[in-house]
Amino acid sequence: MKTYSALAHPNIAFIKYWGNRDQALRLPVNGSISMNLGALETRTSVTLPESAPADHLVINDDEQSGASLARVSAFLDIVRQLSGQKAYAEVISRNNFPSSAGVASSAAAFAALALAASRAFGLALSEKDLSRLARRGSGSACRSIPAGFCEWLSGAGDEDSYAQSFAAPDHWELWDCVAIVEAAPKSTGSTEGHALASTSPLQAARVADAPRRLQLCREAVLARDFEKLADVIEQDSNMMHAVMQTSTPPLMYWSPASLLLMSEVTALRRRGLAAAYTLDAGPNVHVICTAGSHEAVKRHLEGLPGVSWVLVSPVGGCARLLGAN
Ligand code: PMV
Repeated sequence: MKTYSALAHPNIAFIKYWGNRDQALRLPVNGSISMNLGALETRTSVTLPESAPADHLVINDDEQSGASLARVSAFLDIVRQLSGQKAYAEVISRNNFPSSAGVASSAAAFAALALAASRAFGLALSEKDLSRLARRGSGSACRSIPAGFCEWLSGAGDEDSYAQSFAAPDHWELWDCVAIVEAAPKSTGSTEGHALASTSPLQAARVADAPRRLQLCREAVLARDFEKLADVIEQDSNMMHAVMQTSTPPLMYWSPASLLLMSEVTALRRRGLAAAYTLDAGPNVHVICTAGSHEAVKRHLEGLPGVSWVLVSPVGGCARLLGAN
């Protein structure tokens, strides 16, 4: 009986994924672009104990049951189907960042699980197929399989909806300073949120304009043009939150501290410091910085009211196997 262990990083989206055209297959309504966060990681090991009566899941030393176990079991069913094996699995997962940090951990979790579980079930998947598999657990997890700056191609169907790297981690030394303003788990998770996106009258316009933003973002990263990147990622984040805020029921992820931080970040940029904000489905503010600005930005954020602490990460590599023993 072998144990397979894998590591994956979370990622922060520059151009966001919000809304599925197929909820079960997690096929997105638009493509998205992200950067892996190298300082943050999830390590997951998978064993197939002989005659185990059910799947078993431990996250950060906490035995899981209910919804989180059911979600992992449903994901393992896909791996069982692909491999033709019926065995139940023991999954042990650990994050090196506090879950109370409010940083989405499902992307790293399902990327690491896709790699460790596929190996445990005897599958040797290509990077593309691993990304497709990770997508089934959490859409954004497909972007945590390849390295560095990644684009999730929305694709025509399950076969071609996957992420690929378009710039290596060392292409551009960007940093993410995550200003933690609230550590409580979000009230509406992203799976539920995606299902509400189409109820906003603004979603159609956001989706129709996505190819333009994707192109600007790709060009900005490839040319290491920070001003261009800042403009497009802030606009994209604002557009996603406009959709969230105008869906039925409305989703308001921003807190007063988030708004204060957004205006501080644009003011910093006007003063010549490379800093641009982006927010996922929560109130914490990700501030994208350059090698030259991240230390000053971190210090500035730490001094602002409502900020409990600031997590800092450079660009990260791909999901990788740690061992089989
Ligand atoms: O992968 P999910 O279902 O957790 O959705 C992620 C949604 C956002 O984080 C808000 C945007 C993104 O592209 O990561």
